Amino acid sequence: MLNYLIATVLALLIILSLKIVLRSRNLPPGPRGIPIVGSIHKIVPNFHETIPLLAKEYGNIFRISVGPRTIICLVGYDIIKEILVDRAKEFSDRATSVIAKLCRGESRDGIASSPYGPKWSANRKFLLSTFRNLGLNKRGIEKTITSELPHLVEELHGCCRSGNLVDPSLALEYATLNVIASFTFGDRYDYGDKRFLELLHINNEFFQMSRVLRAPTMFIYSIIPFLHKLVLFDSVKQFAKAARKILDFVQVEVKRHLHTHDPQSPRDFIDCYITELKNNENQFMTEKGMEMSIMDLFQAGTETSSTTLRWAILFMANYPQVQEKVHDEIERVLGLQREVRYDDRMRMPYCEATILEVQRKASITPIGLVHAPSHDTTIRGYDIPKGSSVFISYHSMHFSPDHWKNPNQFDPENFLDADGSVGNRDAFMPFGVGLRRCAGIEIARQELFLYFVGILQKFDIQKPDDVKSIPEDPIVGLTLSPHPYKVVLRPKF
Ligand code: HEM
Repeated sequence: MLNYLIATVLALLIILSLKIVLRSRNLPPGPRGIPIVGSIHKIVPNFHETIPLLAKEYGNIFRISVGPRTIICLVGYDIIKEILVDRAKEFSDRATSVIAKLCRGESRDGIASSPYGPKWSANRKFLLSTFRNLGLNKRGIEKTITSELPHLVEELHGCCRSGNLVDPSLALEYATLNVIASFTFGDRYDYGDKRFLELLHINNEFFQMSRVLRAPTMFIYSIIPFLHKLVLFDSVKQFAKAARKILDFVQVEVKRHLHTHDPQSPRDFIDCYITELKNNENQFMTEKGMEMSIMDLFQAGTETSSTTLRWAILFMANYPQVQEKVHDEIERVLGLQREVRYDDRMRMPYCEATILEVQRKASITPIGLVHAPSHDTTIRGYDIPKGSSVFISYHSMHFSPDHWKNPNQFDPENFLDADGSVGNRDAFMPFGVGLRRCAGIEIARQELFLYFVGILQKFDIQKPDDVKSIPEDPIVGLTLSPHPYKVVLRPKF
């Protein structure tokens, strides 16, 4: 009896102190939630649309709750710049999530999901220095990317031969996957190679499964913190299994590298990392860190680029007047035969502006990756507790009438200055900004320009005769991707 009494008094005390703590906090405003569940249903799954809409009601900083957890949404250029640039160190942590733990383990090794700190810093710096040291400096990256271009063009030619209407997705996935495979495993694969097709299959499976992450039911794992240790929904199990398959693939490659490792002649990222581990100079670099960094390269660096290129081809089919100007510039600068180089962009402002406009209009990573404050802090007078998730609405900037003349139209002029050159646009952040900015930005920018120009140099793109316009509403997954579509590709020679 006495035990019950003590337990009841303790419970009342905890509830009371929680209420006092919560009341004393001046959290940002936000929509009313359902008891226990919170207000997450107000923003999932279409974050890109719902967050800017709610900002109209609650302001550029507002709060969403998921059980005991707080999500802070930031909307618009001023506040996003203040947090990611001016106060970058405070807001460069990543919130813990069940998904990150399932994919990266409890300690969240690697780069993208890793907490802000020495482990993240060591792995990110090592990745960037390996891009340089392996000869993958700007020119070297370019060689890896351009050596894939003829295979990409050939693959598209093959698609044209086997039918009138072409879905370009697979060819684009082959090319972007091979760029990352070359950097990580040392060599490109032939597109028919069994190991390559296996890698493509498991990588795609991962992205398909990832769609479940935006389902409202997923947030039950945020409401009940230890639930994932007790029970996993089937869809989550399949997602974790898909991530595990990529890890298995990576581990086989690491083993192969360990057998043939020669510190004097590093072939790729794995060789460089093994040398670092053998030298044992940095306690924050571990075998797990290597595996998880590679997982990051595949998960952050393949689908993002191929999806952007899929949007590019879709927009070219929907906007023939833009495509005509792109073709004119390519013919004037390169002709039909000369292979494109990255520095050609200096003389091809219209093509460059078109690719930037594709990135703006498609906004494939509408809230980037979730940020978190490293300690209790405030934003514009509101309390922001440590451990909150911070959703950055890049999408809101990319579609803001304050920054773009016709934000809902596809118009490369958005990036052209009065003298016809490509200008910087502050409110354009497709790769994020600040300390957590995309680590593969150099590779991505080159892939987009070189593959876009390389394809448009060889093909005319048209929508099918019976289609008025290819749908531009996105499928919401880890990225915003186009619905499957087909176009007519007419070889230009
Ligand atoms: C069009 C292609 C790409 C887009 C739009 C893109 C976009 C982004 C965005 C928005 C972020 C999150 C930034 C933030 O947290 O604020 C990110 C992070 C990251 N990206 Fe990319 N990315 C692309 C391609 C690539 C490629 C090709 C690679 C690798 C070669 C890559 C590797 C990474 C990594 C490792 C991170 C995590 C950075 C960190 O947490 O420190 N990305 N990317």
